[in-house]
Amino acid sequence: MQKIYILGIESSCDETAAAIVLNGREVISNIIFSSADLHKIYGGVVPEIASRKHVEVIPYVLEQTMIKAGITRDQLAAIAVTKGPGLVGSLLVGVSAAKTLALIWRKPLYGIHHLAGHIAANYLTYRELEPPFLSLIVSGAHSHIVLVKSYLEFEIIARTRDDAPGEVFDKIARELNLGYPGGPIIDSMAKYGQNNLFDLPQPKFGDNLDFSFSGIKTATLNKLNQIKQKAALINQPWEKLVNKSDFVATFQSAIINYLLDHTMKAIKLTGQNKLVLAGGVAANSELRLQFQYATKELGLKLYLPELQYCTDNAAMIAAQGFYAFKEQQPETLSLNAYAMLEMDN
Ligand code: KG4
Ligand code: ZN
Repeated sequence: MQKIYILGIESSCDETAAAIVLNGREVISNIIFSSADLHKIYGGVVPEIASRKHVEVIPYVLEQTMIKAGITRDQLAAIAVTKGPGLVGSLLVGVSAAKTLALIWRKPLYGIHHLAGHIAANYLTYRELEPPFLSLIVSGAHSHIVLVKSYLEFEIIARTRDDAPGEVFDKIARELNLGYPGGPIIDSMAKYGQNNLFDLPQPKFGDNLDFSFSGIKTATLNKLNQIKQKAALINQPWEKLVNKSDFVATFQSAIINYLLDHTMKAIKLTGQNKLVLAGGVAANSELRLQFQYATKELGLKLYLPELQYCTDNAAMIAAQGFYAFKEQQPETLSLNAYAMLEMDN
């Protein structure tokens, strides 16, 4: 089999990442620099800080990726870069670097949709996985149920109408002073809690499977304020009134049940028997467990990306880049970055 090495570059948020993937499936090198520590004190990503860090570190990330891969630039078939959606100042750094390398190394250039990349993270873990399948993408900025008809054809079945689940995890963690990013911290704390401390809404839009997470977020924050007010009346810290682990476990379980309910309805609707999870929130241990139970019961095949490929990385961009290289025309060097970008156009 011919050896097709693709260099992937990802810079849509606060990770500066580059990777080389062989034939869309095998990671040869994978370097990620995260500026998350710099954003911690703000409780969320500060776009200008993220862009400046990308500019500073991207040459070294690229250099290390090439050195670790142990291949020469001549062996590279193409360069794939995230063109959107994401923070535009961040995306521009990766796109500019990719265009420069494509020009001086004379390589074809492919602009990749970030969420198509998240889905492709599964090709790195499951070498046998091929479309069609249904995918649930849950990240810090997105929540989509997508019918993946082929490597390059996507139909959106449902999307969030407001916040993304990761964003809500981060917001609740910030209000609880747990740190940033909040998802992994809540994930660990919830293991010690009961998930029935209070009720949370599960918004529905008739037959439409779209999500709305802002109601769950607001109801959780209102609950926290009520508890804090009660505690203030009796001059006690609020943590004395309720167990913090129970609080986060209740919130987390509402998010998971909501995602499960809509995803299983989408499975029925589309008649698919393969379900592929993707995105940062797919790293959540309880979510992985609940989806395993639910799919086993229905005899469905579940695909869970390795934890290291759930959150942002460039190996997933190179994996998707392989299929773009095989089937699509390369971009011109006037490729731009897009803060908003649809998957299905
Ligand atoms: O996919 P990703 O790296 O970036 C975007 O494309 O948005 O996702 C980052 C999000 C953050 O909101 C983070 O809190 C969340 O994924 N996350 C988790 C876990 N690990 C990361 N959420 C819940 N449980 C986790 N274990
Ligand atoms: Zn992402």
